Amino acid sequence: MSELRIRSMADYRAAYQRSTTDPEGFWADVAASFHWRSPWAKVLEWDFAKADTKWFIGGRLNITENCLDRHLAERGEMTALLWEPNDPAQSSEHISYRQLHERVCRMANVLKRQGVKKGDRVCLYMPMIPELAISVLACARIGAIHSVVFGGFSANSLVDRINDSQCVLVITSDGIRRGAKSIPAKPVVDEALPSCPSVKTVLVAKCTGEAVSMRSGRDLWLEDELKQVDADCPAEPMDSEDPLFILYTSGSTGKPKGVVHTCGGYMVYAGYSFANVFQCEENDVFWCTADIGWITGHSYIVYGPLLNGVTSVMFEGVPTWPDPTRFWQVIEKHGVTQFYTAPTAIRSLMAAGHDLPSSFAMPSLKLLGSVGEPINEEAWHWYHEQVGKKRCAVVDTWWQTETGGILLSGLGSITPMKPAHAGLPLPGIRTILVDQQGNELHGEAEGYLCIDFPWPSAIRTTWGDHERCRLNYFAQYPGRYFTGDGAKRDADGFFRIIGRVDDVINVSGHRIGTAEVENAIDEHPDIVESAVVGYPHDIKGQGIYAFVICDHVRTDKDALRNEVIATVERIIGKIARPDKIQFVSGLPKTRSGKIMRRILRKVAEGEMNSLGDTSTLLDPAVVEEITSGRV
Ligand code: PRX
Repeated sequence: MSELRIRSMADYRAAYQRSTTDPEGFWADVAASFHWRSPWAKVLEWDFAKADTKWFIGGRLNITENCLDRHLAERGEMTALLWEPNDPAQSSEHISYRQLHERVCRMANVLKRQGVKKGDRVCLYMPMIPELAISVLACARIGAIHSVVFGGFSANSLVDRINDSQCVLVITSDGIRRGAKSIPAKPVVDEALPSCPSVKTVLVAKCTGEAVSMRSGRDLWLEDELKQVDADCPAEPMDSEDPLFILYTSGSTGKPKGVVHTCGGYMVYAGYSFANVFQCEENDVFWCTADIGWITGHSYIVYGPLLNGVTSVMFEGVPTWPDPTRFWQVIEKHGVTQFYTAPTAIRSLMAAGHDLPSSFAMPSLKLLGSVGEPINEEAWHWYHEQVGKKRCAVVDTWWQTETGGILLSGLGSITPMKPAHAGLPLPGIRTILVDQQGNELHGEAEGYLCIDFPWPSAIRTTWGDHERCRLNYFAQYPGRYFTGDGAKRDADGFFRIIGRVDDVINVSGHRIGTAEVENAIDEHPDIVESAVVGYPHDIKGQGIYAFVICDHVRTDKDALRNEVIATVERIIGKIARPDKIQFVSGLPKTRSGKIMRRILRKVAEGEMNSLGDTSTLLDPAVVEEITSGRV
């Protein structure tokens, strides 16, 4: 992809300019640097009014040929995946491109042997062990659609995701190591599967070694199955617009939706954005600390680095175990050159000891990246100074599950840095700001962040419900993709993300729908109604604040609080547990019965003096009770 690599500000300007005057020619040139089985007939067809986007129409390819086969001749012996285990006492594993190719082919043959065919959905519920990346690629190899579910979700969440996309097979492990703890995986699958009739087979990888029950006729040890197959598996030629994967994400309403990405466009944009944002050179060691259960792991642990023939570090552990210098130790151990993590991790490590990174020179580091939530200036400066020793550029990358790849970001050290600003759009990305009525705002402005033109890795649909995709993203501002984020643009055209403007909370970089948490809380038999909002949290960015109405007087409020938390953990998972719960006798509602969340947000934020107009409330007295009972 060298000819499309941006190496200077002039290159960036030229690429951006061309991407607006000749988008099809621009993206055709980018796409031509990948390997296609047969070329596309047409670059782009789109109609945002119908939420329709198609790229490289009629082209055929397999993304794994681009991630693996294409590199074998030149860099077959180079490390593709560098796995660092949870426990530093255990050895890390270097998997070369050749070995990864072989292991992916074997895994693909295991799937085929179990009857998995092109277009079938496969659910991966796994720890951050090499088998997870291998399973992702094995699905792609045979054209099965992977749906990775983060290992912290509950059985109930797993049921919803498996059933929504009718997965035929689940790959899991006995358990999941996370720092000093081990959490169950197979038992969660066992709990889920009685409600998932589409699943015929479960493949179980060994990770923690704990005993698990195996149901005969359904459950198989992966290790045994891998021995039954050979390492030759031709890649299935896929249409550009065939789905590559589904990834569930939370929105403001209803259950999580399955965001669908397709083979051609996703490949082109994941490869292109990785090359230009991270500016990796041959022999660089790139480390993204995300979990493959999220889009960041899909695009920038697995696909982006491998498409570019780079070494990608995959880390099983957590930043604070055995101690909060674990990241810096790993960077030194493996000579990491680009390091990509989330503001929550940065803030928690900063809180664990401001000077801790000073004992680590980390001479290999060239670039630092941030993703998932707004990075505050204090954390940005600490990252730049203490971790990057003021010599590494910091890129703040803004994007979403739906965008497939990074849309706003610095490009290596090429574009100027501004603390806490995501910066400029990548070539091909027409980010605009609009006011509430959808009028475009020009120049310096603050507004709703929209995208005016398709890009190759744009969401194609929400699995099984295209209308939901249209309504969620393309209906609010007709003719535009609406991100759900508010943003500011300064006089230099740099964007600064303010945060979600819908009913989604960003907790530690994880998207959580307030409605989902409310529905979970309401499952508790003593709770009649609840309302959930976000509030600023020093470490997590946002915390979850729940206002809860109990249907009778319970004096043991602490016990009830714990029961409510346990209910949310059971229904969604630990990541959605409320940080604060306030019991109230009523919620501030308008006469039409709508909860005025604005008031609840102000109370949660502690800004009780600026509640605004409360005259339209059905019962203004409720506000008095809520403000005085704030926790
Ligand atoms: O609010 C934005 C925030 O995360 C949301 C997308 O979440 P998700 O789909 O889970 O993907 C996260 C990883 C790409 C966005 O709508 N967000 C993401 N990156 C940033 C960000 N907010 C501010 N700055 C960022 N760099």
